[in-house]
Amino acid sequence: MFLTESEQQISTEYQQQGYIIRPVADTQALAWIREQFIGLIEDALGLVSHDEPDVLLNNIHERVSVPDLNAFRLKIIRGINSIENFRSMYFRVARPYLETIVGNELAMQLRVNLSIQFPGDDSSLLPVHADTWSGDSPFEVVVWLPLVDCYGTKAMYLLPPEPAGELNREFGERAGRSSEELYQEIAHRVEWLKVNYGEVLIFNQGLPHGNRVNEEAETRWSMNCRFKGVFTPYGDKKIGEFFEPITLRAASRAGMSYSLPSL
Ligand SMILES: [Fe+2]
Repeated sequence: MFLTESEQQISTEYQQQGYIIRPVADTQALAWIREQFIGLIEDALGLVSHDEPDVLLNNIHERVSVPDLNAFRLKIIRGINSIENFRSMYFRVARPYLETIVGNELAMQLRVNLSIQFPGDDSSLLPVHADTWSGDSPFEVVVWLPLVDCYGTKAMYLLPPEPAGELNREFGERAGRSSEELYQEIAHRVEWLKVNYGEVLIFNQGLPHGNRVNEEAETRWSMNCRFKGVFTPYGDKKIGEFFEPITLRAASRAGMSYSLPSL
């Protein structure tokens, strides 16, 4: 392999653990993203916050009720996705890591997702799953970006490649298990991914992952968005309707528009 030493380091880590956690590549882009959120929250709640951003975000469950949570979340998601530069700023936060792990001709999901996890709330849980089980391409990675420090059950968990391989081989025997039973069987082998604000997580969505009830005292705010190599195989999520090329290179453009001279 002709990868540089630092590229090899990241590649090995991703392959062995199924993820990497790194400081964001562009702190200004991250600060800009969080500012957009504060503005959208103030709009949604009709208030002007005098709290520090992390205090407002971590304690949002004191201002929004559980029944109102989904409508609130959808309002914020619509908000971020209607901001012109949002996805390009999101990309900047992870760009060099994506270029190392995935490549430099990338397709990005058209919409950035948001998860808001109140303490003790069991209404927005993600049972154990791999995205590939429901038709995602194994060539996709997820860029997971928190707006607050995520630790303990406020974070997400991932089953590392080795136990995930064992689970795959025994999958037939486990058919018919509920996802809770499945979780209980892998609980002692999952890794809880501590990711602070200022860091970004990139993980392999083909590995089982999910979350549990957030038993911490603070609300989790995290975004996620899929990336893949433009020319790698697609699953159910297609280019155009779900993904869009964001960094096509000149030779690829030339190749795609090339036609042999006609006789
Ligand atoms: Fe997932």
